[in-house]
Parts: sequence; C-alpha cells; structure tokens
Amino acid sequence: MAPIHSSSQQWVEKYRPKQVKDVAHQEEVVRALTNTLETGNLPHLLFYGPPGTGKTTTALAIAHQLFGPEYKSRVLELNASDDRGINVVRTKIKDFAAVAVGSGNTNSGYLCPPFKIIILDEADSMTEDAQNALRRTMETYSKVTRFCFICNYVSRIIEPLASRCAKFRFKPLVEDIMTGRILHICKEEGVHLDSDALTMLSSISEGDLRRAITYLQSAARLYGSSISSNNLISVSGIVPKEVVQSLYQACKTGQFDLAQKEVSDIIAEGHPASQIFSQLYDMVVQATDISDETKARISQRLAEADKCLIDGADEYLQLLDVASNAMRSLCNMTQECCY
Ligand SMILES: Nc1ncnc2c1ncn2[C@@H]1O[C@H](COP(=O)(O)OP(=O)(O)OP(=O)(O)O)[C@@H](O)[C@H]1O
Ligand SMILES: [Mg+2]
Repeated sequence: MAPIHSSSQQWVEKYRPKQVKDVAHQEEVVRALTNTLETGNLPHLLFYGPPGTGKTTTALAIAHQLFGPEYKSRVLELNASDDRGINVVRTKIKDFAAVAVGSGNTNSGYLCPPFKIIILDEADSMTEDAQNALRRTMETYSKVTRFCFICNYVSRIIEPLASRCAKFRFKPLVEDIMTGRILHICKEEGVHLDSDALTMLSSISEGDLRRAITYLQSAARLYGSSISSNNLISVSGIVPKEVVQSLYQACKTGQFDLAQKEVSDIIAEGHPASQIFSQLYDMVVQATDISDETKARISQRLAEADKCLIDGADEYLQLLDVASNAMRSLCNMTQECCY
C-alpha cells in the first residue's frame, strides 16, 4: 500500500483523539469510562447524540486503550457500510461473539480484560429484525463479549437492546471548545483564520466538529493558507445570507410575482431547497418584528415542506409553497382552511 502523504490525509482522522481523556466536552462520559479503563470492567455501551461529537472516536479509543496490540483479534467494528442485516447478526456477529478468549498478555502494558468488543456504529440504521436477533446473542455471550452501539437517534434502538446497555449521551460541542480545537489544527497545519472566519466556522458547523474540520480542510485546499469567512461559505454549501434575505423581503411585500421570481432564481442558481428552509427558519425565529404566532405558522409549514422533500417532492413547488404561506402569514392575508 502506498504511504499516505500528509497532504492527502483527512484532518478528521489525523486529529481524532487517540485516548478517551482527550475527547473534549463530554466530561461525564470521559469520567465514567476512565474508571472502566482502570478496572477493565466494561458494561455493554450505548453512545448516542448528534453527528461529529466524539462517539466513534470514544469507542475506538476505549478499545485501543484496553487491548493495544491485540486490538485486531479482540475488536469487531461494523458500520453502516457493512451489511448488518439479520443474516450477518446470525453468522458473523454471532461467530465472533461466541469465540472464547483468555486474558491477554498483560505484560504489554495493556489491561487486556478477558472479553471482546463488538462495535456497531450507526446502529440506528439496523433493521428491527436484526436488532431483535441480537438480543439473544448479547445475553448468551455476555461473559466473553461486550457490545458498543453507536447511533444518532436513540429512539431507533429497540428497548430490549437499550435496556441492556449503559447509555451515554454526547452533547453538541459548544463554541469555545470548537474554536479551541480548530485553532489547534490551524496551528499544526500552518493555516490562518481571521476572527470573523473562526466565528463563521463555529456557527455553520452547529456543534459538529467533524463538519468544522472538513470545511477547514476543503477551504485550505482550495484557497491556501489564509482563509476568510467567504471562503468557508463557498465550501460549506450554505446559501449567502442575501439570497435568503431577499426571498424573505419579497414575501413581506405581499406580491406573489416578486416571491415567485425569487423562488425561480434560487432554484435556477442550484441552491438546495432544504438549505434555504433551514436558513429561512433561523431568520424567521430571530426576527424581532413579527409575532410569535406568525413565526409558529411559518415554522410549521417549513417543517412540513422539509418532510415532503425527504419523501421526494419537487424542490421548486415546495419552496414556492413555503414562500406563499410565509407571505400569507407575514401580511395577515386570510387563509382558507383547506383541510
Ligand atoms: N468531543 C470531541 N473531542 C475531540 N475531537 C472530536 C470530538 N468530537 C468530534 N471530534 C473530531 O471530529 C471527528 C469526528 O468525530 P466522531 O467520528 O467521533 O463523530 P461521531 O460522534 O461518531 O459522529 P457521527 O454520529 O456522525 O458518526 C473526529 O475525528 C475528531 O477529529
Ligand atoms: Mg460515528
């Protein structure tokens, strides 16, 4: 295999903390797991929380810290790109879970407790049948195997699995922590961000450090070592504020053709409707000159349109619908009830 040149290496991987104690902003999780690392006493784990907050990082770090050089034989990692349907649960996972292990070579300086770990990343994408099939495996082999489930939506993990695990919630990273990590990477990579760009990066990443690091690396590749907030906007796919602002203003005029023109322009420019929805939502919620009721009406319509998009509806029509509904609410036009 060709060596990885530092320039082509993904910064998210390069700066992934290797030890549990280096995972930022998840103090409760780190405290509980540090104890485990000392005693080697590990329950089944369930990590949940929004993207880019350290869940996979923490799971990999515990496994590496417990097993060191024996990691390969002791840890099975499966994520959404691997097949994890019911057949895999019945074969691959069960076979790995059933293998007995002794306590490893403790002279290596690692605890090597007498069990294996199966990490099921993105477990919320497993079917319910597959999850059900895991219940017995978990119980039968609990002496020699620990499971670590990782997901964004804990409600998609069936209760019998969730109730067998110690649950840890990962919080979105706050701005201070994000800024600290970003500045550290900038220093290591010789990249300069001015303070506007730094604030912009934290705000567009919404507590997701992976996203922040990815934007930073993309911007550095395209624009070199001095990065402005405009550079970040262009790599992040967010829509320039003026575009959303002029749609909002057009809705406020109460003139349908103005709003319709804005919508056509937005679609012609290739801006994704879902991104417009999310930015329009922020703008509406923060507006100081409209009533709470109006905000609620517009938000409700935004949520419905967003769901329609996920179900495959047409972007132009959904955006037009949102705009005309917003216009009615903003201009107090009577709304015929069509339900
Ligand atoms: N709490 C954290 N402390 C330090 N670095 C972090 C933290 N969270 C995320 N990162 C950085 O972001 C990258 C992605 O984190 P990770 O893969 O752990 O996210 P995740 O929570 O598993 O997200 P997803 O739900 O999308 O899988 C890591 O490589 C690391 O560089
Ligand atoms: Mg992950």
